[in-house]
Amino acid sequence: MFGPKIWDFYADRYDRLWVQRFVLYPSRRLILKTAGELSSPGMILDVGCGIGELCHSMSLQYPSAEIIGIDPSVKMIKRAEENFSGNNIKYSCGQPDSLPKDQKFDLIVSTNAFPYMLDKRKFLSDMKMLLNPDGRLLLLFANRNTLYDAFWLMLVKLTTSSAQYPSVSSTHNLLKDSGFEVGKTEPIESLFFVPSVFMVEGILPDSHSEKEF
Ligand SMILES: C[S@@+](CC[C@H](N)C(=O)[O-])C[C@H]1O[C@@H](n2cnc3c(N)ncnc32)[C@H](O)[C@@H]1O
Repeated sequence: MFGPKIWDFYADRYDRLWVQRFVLYPSRRLILKTAGELSSPGMILDVGCGIGELCHSMSLQYPSAEIIGIDPSVKMIKRAEENFSGNNIKYSCGQPDSLPKDQKFDLIVSTNAFPYMLDKRKFLSDMKMLLNPDGRLLLLFANRNTLYDAFWLMLVKLTTSSAQYPSVSSTHNLLKDSGFEVGKTEPIESLFFVPSVFMVEGILPDSHSEKEF
């Protein structure tokens, strides 16, 4: 069961997990708010989209955008297609490096999936290839910034596949080493007992504007 197949196990019960209220809903809210501060993106990619809750909310916020949700779990994608579909959403089972090389995005989001990407540098290099020059990468996940976070995330890790939870400062370094500039960095709004969950924005250096697409 443990390993990547764990996500197939969670797919049927994902929208009923306790973390929806304290982590996943506040995560989606922060991404939607941040995206809303930028000009409307035409092409949006959600990597590790799970059952598609964020894709669905994005499709309501951006009805004329084209949204692709990609996830390696067959069952997560099946649930996304069944429960969180939309005229402007396409779901795909796999990894972002399986997307057509000429497909470019204005906004790439990845919420609560980065810890499970074991080759983070490869992932960031793939994101660079998939972003339009003025595009934005919004990465959001639980970070190991303090001993309290480390304790919590050690417990969380027992319930998921292999994971590494970089701190905010190592995420900044990873982004810089991969050729991104670091933009907005903001925690989700949640209750005090939840470990640190931050959104970090990656911007391509040749982007013409720091604030707008
Ligand atoms: C905690 S869920 C997050 C789902 C959704 N993004 C959210 O915020 O609710 C983690 C997701 O990451 C996906 N995942 C696991 N390993 C991955 C990888 N190497 N690359 C992309 N996605 C991965 C899982 O299949 C799962 O759907």
